Amino acid sequence: MGEVIEVGILEGVASTTIKKLHKAGLATLEAIAVTPPREIVALTGMGVDTAIKVNTLARLKVDPGYVSASDLLETRSHMMRSRTGSNEFDRIMGGGIETGVITELIGEFGSGKTQICYTLSVLAQRPVAEGGLGGRVCVIDTEGTFLPERIKQIAEARGYDAQEILSNVLIARAYNSDHQIMLVKNLPKIAQEHDIKLVIVDSMIGHFRGEYIGRGTLAERQQKIAGVLGNLLRVAEAFNLSVVLTNQVQAKPDTSYGDPNRPAGGHVMAHACTHRVYLRKGRQNTRLVRVIDSPYLPEEKIRIAVTAAGICNEDETTNMEYDPDMYTAPEEPEEFSLEEEKVETPEELNLELDEINLDE
Ligand code: GTP
Ligand code: MG
Repeated sequence: MGEVIEVGILEGVASTTIKKLHKAGLATLEAIAVTPPREIVALTGMGVDTAIKVNTLARLKVDPGYVSASDLLETRSHMMRSRTGSNEFDRIMGGGIETGVITELIGEFGSGKTQICYTLSVLAQRPVAEGGLGGRVCVIDTEGTFLPERIKQIAEARGYDAQEILSNVLIARAYNSDHQIMLVKNLPKIAQEHDIKLVIVDSMIGHFRGEYIGRGTLAERQQKIAGVLGNLLRVAEAFNLSVVLTNQVQAKPDTSYGDPNRPAGGHVMAHACTHRVYLRKGRQNTRLVRVIDSPYLPEEKIRIAVTAAGICNEDETTNMEYDPDMYTAPEEPEEFSLEEEKVETPEELNLELDEINLDE
C-alpha cells in the first residue's frame, strides 16, 4: 500500500481537492491513479477537469511510462507468492500464486476452482514468512456459491483462528454484469482501506455470458470484459496484490479428437491473464492441474486433492481426518545431497538397469 498523499505532492492541486480525495477514500497515489476520472468525479463531486488532472498527475507519479529493465527487476523483487495448500501446485506455479498479475483458474463444474479460492482466502492471510501475503482478502462472488462455512472449515482444519480468518475475508455478491463492473471499479478504494492482498472473482464472465447472448452482442461483451480485466490488472500492479479469477470451459463444436473444451472468454481473457491454470476432475477427490500459456512456467501436469482442509497434495488424500502435522507450513527442502543419490552397490545398479529395460 502506498503513502497517504499530502498537499503539494500533486503539483498545482489545491488542498481542498486533496481533502475531497481523502474523504472519498482515495488517499494514495496508487488509488487515484487506478481510478478512472469519471469514478473520481462520482466519488468526490469534483469537476471533470480537476479529476482528469489529479488522475493524470497520480498516474505519472506511479507509472512514468518506460522503465529500465533493472527498475522492472526491482519492482518484481517486491512480488510475493501465496502458497496454495499443495506444495506440488506451488511448485508448478513457481512458488505459489503471484502478486501483481492475474491468475486464471479454468475448468468445468466441480473441477475445484472455488475450492482453490477458498483455500487461498485462508492461506493468503498468513504472514509472508509462512508463505502467505499477510493481508486481507476480497471476493466478488457472481454465483452466490462462496460460503463462509467452508472458509471456517478449512481454517479450523489447518489449526488457524477461524473467526479471525473469516473477519478478514470481504465478500460482495455481484448480481449482474453491471454490478460486477461497479464492484471492480470500487476495488482501489477497498484495497487501500482494508489492506487487501488477494482479490478473487468467482466467476469472471458468468454474468457476461448469460446477459450478452448471440453473435450481435459479442463485440460489446468482449469490450466490457476487457474493461473489467484492465481494471483488475491495474489494481494488481498498483497494490502489489494477487488477482485470481475463475473461468468455465466451453465445448468447441468442431473438435473431432483431443480435448473438446477450451476456456471461455476468448482472446480477451487469454491476453489479460498472466497465468492460466487448467483443472480437470481426476479419480476420487483428486484434480489434475496444468499451467497453460504461461510466459515462464512449465506445462507440467500434477494432481492435487480436495479435502476438508481445502487443497492438498495428492498423497494427503487417504487421511481425510485432520492431522495437525499434515497441514502445517511446508518444510524447507532438505539439503540436496549427492551421497544419497549415489547408487551404492553393483546389485542396485543392476536392479536399476533391469527396471529401465522393463520400462522399454
Ligand atoms: P463450478 O463453480 O460449478 O464451475 O465448479 P468449481 O470448479 O468451482 O467446483 P468446486 O471448486 O466448487 O468443487 C466442487 C467439488 O469439490 C465437489 O464436487 C466436491 O467433490 C468437492 N468438495 C467440496 N467440499 C469438499 C469437502 O469438504 N471435502 C472434500 N473432500 N471435497 C469437497
Ligand atoms: Mg465454483
